[in-house]
Amino acid sequence: MRKARGTSQERKWQTINYSRSLFVLSLVLVFMNVNLALGATASVTYTVTSLGANPDGKTDSTKSFLSAWAKACVSAKPAVIYVPVGRFLLRKSVFNGPCKNSAITFQIAGTLVSPSDYWVIGNAGNWLFFEHVNGVTISGGILDGQGTGLWDCKTSGKGCPKGATTLGFSNSNNIVMNEVSSLNSQMFHIVINGCHNVKMLGIRVSASGNSPNTDGIHVQMSTSVTILNSKTATGDDCVSIGPGTSNLWIENVACGPGHGISIGSLGKEQEEVGVQNVTVKTVTFTGTQNGVRIKSWGRPSTGFARNILFQHAVMVNVKNPVVIDQNYCPDEKHCPGQESGVQISDIMYQDIHGTSATEVAVKFDCMSKYPCNKITLEDVKLTYKNQAAEASCSHAGGTAEGTVQPTSCL
Ligand SMILES: *[C@@H]1O[C@H](CO)[C@@H](O)[C@H](O)[C@H]1NC(C)=O
Repeated sequence: MRKARGTSQERKWQTINYSRSLFVLSLVLVFMNVNLALGATASVTYTVTSLGANPDGKTDSTKSFLSAWAKACVSAKPAVIYVPVGRFLLRKSVFNGPCKNSAITFQIAGTLVSPSDYWVIGNAGNWLFFEHVNGVTISGGILDGQGTGLWDCKTSGKGCPKGATTLGFSNSNNIVMNEVSSLNSQMFHIVINGCHNVKMLGIRVSASGNSPNTDGIHVQMSTSVTILNSKTATGDDCVSIGPGTSNLWIENVACGPGHGISIGSLGKEQEEVGVQNVTVKTVTFTGTQNGVRIKSWGRPSTGFARNILFQHAVMVNVKNPVVIDQNYCPDEKHCPGQESGVQISDIMYQDIHGTSATEVAVKFDCMSKYPCNKITLEDVKLTYKNQAAEASCSHAGGTAEGTVQPTSCL
């Protein structure tokens, strides 16, 4: 026989316990209200799984994420969108502002997965896209672009879509990305376009060394962007810096495989905003195609690159460690016999050392019409097969200070 529900004595204890919990609960509520009144840490959390998102990696969770965003965006209080552990399949998702508050955090414990069929978002431009937002933080998470199928398609020369950028920010301010990983993007991993004050900390970019057009972080038309303590291993530029970038700070980044850190291509457009005040500091390049590069199309343009500092770089078996190329003209198309109008000046290389995988470790290939000027080399030591490498200059002027190997050709 089962025991009866409880003696009257037990019931009495339950009642006491019950009222005790009520008392504790009301204390908590009072405390929370006080907190709210003081405005301290009062934020509201939307958990995507409570809004229908499914962590099975197969069910389309786009609607749940967009509804979490819609709620966060109209919230007067700071909002957290919480993504628990699991795989969440998302199609193209546009997180639009402006929002009512300027503190929305995506706290991501799990993985966001893009459709494995590359036709689904392959012509959409972007997969996860933020536009006109202010004060958005993305903290944690793996963004899996599932790009391998598209890379194979592109490599085989079949008809394929262009591919989508994994994570894009456009016309936005005060953005933080913290410990975000981007895996196998179809095209670029992260794009910052038309933004002000962006901090990227502990970013991990990872894709195959021969994946086409998979730039790690691309910045353009943006000011005050910082990239710190990050690692990019990919098939194109680790970081690419487009027209209209100023006050960019890159520090403590590991690059490779990849095509290096590149300012450019500049000068694609006739009317173009220049690049200025860029610092690239404490970067290791391992087995990359280039180290630090500035390149511009060989055609007329109002663009420029100036006030650039490359400092404390280590090159490990890099094909072209130091490059300025004003003569960029892939496939010799759209620039036949033209000179670059992009003016390159005030470029400082300081403490650059390591190994080159080719004989010419320093190459300044500039144009007679607008020679590169005020280039400074200071404490540069690059070797090729245990010997001093070579330098090559064309229409480049400036000075060399301290030990400079290969011997400067400026
Ligand atoms: C250059 O950019 C840095 C940030 O990268 C900023 O702190 C500094 O003030 C800028 N310098 C000028 C002259 O604008």
